[in-house]
Amino acid sequence: MLTEVTAIRYVTPLREGGSLPGIVEADDLGTYVMKFTGAGQGRKTLVAEVVCGRLGRRLGLRVPDLVRIQLDPVIGLSEPDQEVQELLKASGGLNLGMDYLPGSLGFDPLAFEVGAEEAGRVVWFDALIGNVDRSWRNPNMLVWHGQLWLIDHGATMIWHHGWRGLDKAAGKPYDASEHVLAPFAPDVAAAAEALAPLITEELLTEVVADVPDEWLTDEPGFDGPDAVRRAYVEVLLERAATVGARVTLGERAGEEPSKAPEWLRVWVDGKASK
Ligand SMILES: Nc1ncnc2c1ncn2[C@@H]1O[C@H](COP(=O)(O)OP(=O)(O)OP(=O)(O)O)[C@@H](O)[C@H]1O
Ligand SMILES: [Mg+2]
Repeated sequence: MLTEVTAIRYVTPLREGGSLPGIVEADDLGTYVMKFTGAGQGRKTLVAEVVCGRLGRRLGLRVPDLVRIQLDPVIGLSEPDQEVQELLKASGGLNLGMDYLPGSLGFDPLAFEVGAEEAGRVVWFDALIGNVDRSWRNPNMLVWHGQLWLIDHGATMIWHHGWRGLDKAAGKPYDASEHVLAPFAPDVAAAAEALAPLITEELLTEVVADVPDEWLTDEPGFDGPDAVRRAYVEVLLERAATVGARVTLGERAGEEPSKAPEWLRVWVDGKASK
């Protein structure tokens, strides 16, 4: 189960995020990016953050650690922004938090270089979870202490919005041509060989156990939270076996700006800049 903390101070909204996540301090002295249950995107976004965030970490990818955060909306009373006030009021009780990475920079494909192996692992993982939100327009990756961190897994697993045609979901191809790491020659085959065998029923069962029951209740067509968890396990298990062969890294539309000169670029993941 995820650790549970209580928010004690609302610090500031993160306006880059469509769901208006906020930075909060909690009673364990930690600082977290808080994603609110009252946000318009709905609780499925938070379920996706937990399933994908925990799975990514188990595969050795860098994803900030997650916590359950209890919120008393009273902590935001002095917040002047009406939109924030309303979000807090609608989000009393359980919410999701992730470790705040202080001083991190948004990943810029023109300024940072990523190796083919690491790029392959990220692309394969995104193919597994059907992530449509890691494009060069919206990379949803941070560079922190010279390493790549993955954030924002809310727009993944499209199949959980209807739970119909699950057999199709398991076999759905992944078009990575707009993926922010597509230009780094991602070695998807090597990633599939290394990561697919790690995805077992046991591992996935552990991962989905971290999703709070509260976000899985009353799911139409399911007989309680454990039945929903089971559905996540089944699709991901089946997808993991073959998705690597169904990733396309085609040509892009060509609207992207040209790269920074070689001497201005920095390698992530410990490699020295050239
Ligand atoms: N763990 C973190 N540490 C530091 N900054 C973060 C962290 N998580 C998110 N951010 C910052 O907050 C922004 C918004 O976060 P995120 O993308 O998760 O929100 P969102 O509402 O889901 O966004 P989107 O509009 O992409 O759907 C990020 O672009 C990043 O700048
Ligand atoms: Mg985002």
